[in-house]
Amino acid sequence: MTTVIRLEAVSKVYGQGEAEIHALRAINLVVAAGEYCAIMGASGSGKSTAMNIIGCLDRPSSGAYYLDGENVAGLSETQLAHIRNRKIGFVFQQFHLLPQLTALENVTLPLVYAGVAGRERLERAKQVLDQVGLSHRLDNRPNQLSGGQQQRVAIARAMVNQPLLLLADEPTGALDSRTSHEVMDLFAQLHSQGITIVMVTHEPDIARCSQRVIWFRDGQVIHDHLPPEEVGQVLFAL
Ligand SMILES: Nc1ncnc2c1ncn2[C@@H]1O[C@H](COP(=O)(O)OP(=O)(O)O)[C@@H](O)[C@H]1O
Ligand SMILES: [Mg+2]
Repeated sequence: MTTVIRLEAVSKVYGQGEAEIHALRAINLVVAAGEYCAIMGASGSGKSTAMNIIGCLDRPSSGAYYLDGENVAGLSETQLAHIRNRKIGFVFQQFHLLPQLTALENVTLPLVYAGVAGRERLERAKQVLDQVGLSHRLDNRPNQLSGGQQQRVAIARAMVNQPLLLLADEPTGALDSRTSHEVMDLFAQLHSQGITIVMVTHEPDIARCSQRVIWFRDGQVIHDHLPPEEVGQVLFAL
């Protein structure tokens, strides 16, 4: 089994001296290709910090991070940006679409950075927008779309480079429950196509869509392989 994510004794410290915050305390984590994981834990437990490191948006203060077999902990900003563009798709709670661009333009953007030629960009972007059910909304700007539609555009943008890994930080946090489940249906579809998914959520209902729950507390992983159906018991015990 190929390993996509391997964190070895990863720590993250923010600030200095008296103001030091140990956001991650020597965490170890292994995620294999094709897994679908949910990260849970109280606010401030280090979930977003871990996601930022896994997504190569930030670097650990100490420890090693192997992404797809490559130690990325020591890479430069430029090298990390290149890896993000090639290997990782991101979905955020607030969608993070560019407001002045249409749905189609938002989705083509990662292909511009990847140096894909104009015509192929359009074809590929249209294809993923079709896959998320938005082929009738190509020319709409984000403010002309519902929250669920904006999140689907963001998912199309995340997928257009055919990444190895989809990272989602509270992807349903700004959506109502019906729309949330539409987004989860889309994740299930992507997962069945073989992509590795790691998402942060605080909703047990959403975590149950995954196969494995990773539970954070005070900057540590306290459950590494929690079956999603046992989330309720952990919440109850807190
Ligand atoms: N950029 C930052 N500067 C200083 N402290 C931070 C920063 N980001 C996060 N923290 C702190 O690190 C800890 C973990 O935060 P975070 O990873 O955002 O937790 P979660 O996503 O689980 O709510 C918290 O105590 C938070 O206040
Ligand atoms: Mg967070």
